[in-house]
Amino acid sequence: MQAIHIFSSKGGSGKTTAVLSLAAALAHRGHRVALVDADPNGAQGGATRWLAQAQAAGRPTPFPVLKSLTSSAAQAYDYVVHDHPPGGRAAHQLPEGLVIVPTPLDPGSFFSATRVIDSLRHRSLPPLLLPSRVRLERAEQRRLASVLAVPVVRDRAAYGSLFGQGATLYTDGTGIIGLAAAREEFEDTVARVLAHLGAQHRKEAA
Ligand SMILES: Nc1ncnc2c1ncn2[C@@H]1O[C@H](COP(=O)(O)OP(=O)(O)OP(=O)(O)O)[C@@H](O)[C@H]1O
Ligand SMILES: [Mg+2]
Repeated sequence: MQAIHIFSSKGGSGKTTAVLSLAAALAHRGHRVALVDADPNGAQGGATRWLAQAQAAGRPTPFPVLKSLTSSAAQAYDYVVHDHPPGGRAAHQLPEGLVIVPTPLDPGSFFSATRVIDSLRHRSLPPLLLPSRVRLERAEQRRLASVLAVPVVRDRAAYGSLFGQGATLYTDGTGIIGLAAAREEFEDTVARVLAHLGAQHRKEAA
């Protein structure tokens, strides 16, 4: 079982959106995935809220959404992705696993994300910064994205629509405009995450 934590010190950086997309991408690949909503406000705008939307729409979800999971129950899954509240748990208190830090690329958000990344550098699995809600039409963000040279998640209206429907990037038949483009873009982030985990496993085996 591989644990993945989505964490940021700032609110609204795209954590829940990233956790849902990543869980869906892994389930779409045939992996056994569980999502743990570790956000006490998750029933308001988090993964638990998304689950309620899915249930209201009569949509089966590709992974369970749980409030907690014992470590023995977690072994039944290939991946357990955890959605955290903003800054709710200091970064250094996060349990073992890969930490992904989503951040918009405005200077304030980006700076606070780099501090989180710095504080996690000592972990056996190095953290990943995930540029999210990126506005590439803004020259400053475009430049920063190009220097970072990692796949980004752009600001796209499709994400709000998916949440409202209790759907994910990999749900068929939503009729949401721009879904295919959003999914194609996100696949680059999925590949990055899997390559990072794979490289780490190879390092440990060597
Ligand atoms: N890539 C994106 N494009 C457009 N809107 C987005 C994107 N990512 C997130 N959003 C929207 O921004 C808002 C905040 O996103 P989200 O809930 O994922 O952030 P969060 O970090 O989980 O917030 P919180 O800190 O409150 O838990 C939501 O309305 C969401 O739909
Ligand atoms: Mg959230």
